[in-house]
Amino acid sequence: MRKIVIIFGTRPEAIKMAPVVLRLKEEAEAFQVKVAVTAQHRQMLDQVLELFNVVPDYDLDLMTPDQDLFDITVRVIKGLKDLLEKERPQLVLVHGDTTTTFAAALAAFYLHIPVGHVEAGLRTRDKYRPFPEEINRRLVGSLADYHFAPTPWARDNLLAEGVPAENIWVTGNTVIDALQMIATLVAREDKTWSDFLTERYGLTLDSRRLILVTGHRRENFGPGFRNICLALRDLVETRPDIHLVYPVHLNPRVQEPVRDILVGTRVATQQAPVSFTLEVAGGGLLSLLPPLDYAPFVYLMSKSYLVLTDSGGIQEEAPGLGKPVLVMREVTERPEGLWANTVKLVGTDRLEIIRAVRELLDNPASYQAMAQAQNPYGDGQAASRIVQILAKILD
Ligand code: UD1
Ligand code: UDP
Repeated sequence: MRKIVIIFGTRPEAIKMAPVVLRLKEEAEAFQVKVAVTAQHRQMLDQVLELFNVVPDYDLDLMTPDQDLFDITVRVIKGLKDLLEKERPQLVLVHGDTTTTFAAALAAFYLHIPVGHVEAGLRTRDKYRPFPEEINRRLVGSLADYHFAPTPWARDNLLAEGVPAENIWVTGNTVIDALQMIATLVAREDKTWSDFLTERYGLTLDSRRLILVTGHRRENFGPGFRNICLALRDLVETRPDIHLVYPVHLNPRVQEPVRDILVGTRVATQQAPVSFTLEVAGGGLLSLLPPLDYAPFVYLMSKSYLVLTDSGGIQEEAPGLGKPVLVMREVTERPEGLWANTVKLVGTDRLEIIRAVRELLDNPASYQAMAQAQNPYGDGQAASRIVQILAKILD
């Protein structure tokens, strides 16, 4: 029996690993699979586990409020030691570039357990952007034995770093598998999700164009986030034709500027996380929400006119639904979207964000060029490919 321990801890890892977990569990006669979550994220991880019906075999439950990188790294390594010594799998599978990913790969390496890396080979070549993810994924690239690259460009990055070609497979990105699963569900039950958002959050969509916003990058904390919030405020104050919907990440470093700049004096003291809808006099609608479950988030992406984000995964997903993405970063590890014209980098300059949003609102040709571009990130079969490859590797 091929024994695998799959380790993840944050929302995006859970979304992107869920299709792999589900496919492996379908092959129960061929694989013995244990799921270990670090719970680097608590609430945002649990939302995903519940949706995909993934029940962890181990839960390190290590999140603390406003944790720092030292806390997470140490607690993941220490927390995984006993677990991996007890399980002694043939392979540990990790995903992407979080601190859970890096520390889990390191823990496996210390115990001489081979590591498989899903979403391998993404690079900006800028040490501090995104921080700490660029270095996390490079370190995992060194620790891993098997590399599942989502695109040919990611494979080429690994080859250039000396990873042997026979240890790299181009599989597509598993986020497209997850997105297709949930988008199908959401499309079947359009009214259910619209009612859910109204009942739970008082959010009702009208004919205004929906701009969906997310942001959480550490390198944007401070001036970057301030600029983002100021740009959002300018946009909603000057455009009666838009509805800005912003599910705000639970990180206190994100909640604070949002509360200061976007809630400000307009709404009486709020308990975190923020949640309200406001009609700005002479302007548009602004809704601030807690992080949404993946299904209602996919519903909102499908209803959006454009997406404004600094997220990694959303750069891959939104184009799959035909939605242009403006990326509030200076660099991206996902240049395929730039080449395909599904995403544009707008940085965190207040005026540049406003200019780019207005261009897509007011210039139908610019909008159509992005909305109709082909998504380069996969066909929804990445998890199946990874499972087939794992069967061969572990024989
Ligand atoms: C982490 C990852 C980042 C990934 C992002 C996805 C690292 C260093 N960062 O960043 O790569 O893109 O997740 O969202 O691995 N919090 C809660 N509940 C939650 C989640 C977070 O309260 O469910 C709050 C806590 O106060 C926590 C803080 O957010 O301490 C920061 O969480 P952390 O995982 O350290 O950083 P993220 O910014 O979420
Ligand atoms: N997402 C979600 N609810 C939200 C915001 C995002 O389910 O309120 C999903 C989104 O669709 C994507 C993932 O979370 O699949 C992205 O997570 P995040 O932006 O936190 O991390 P990143 O991808 O930047 O690492």
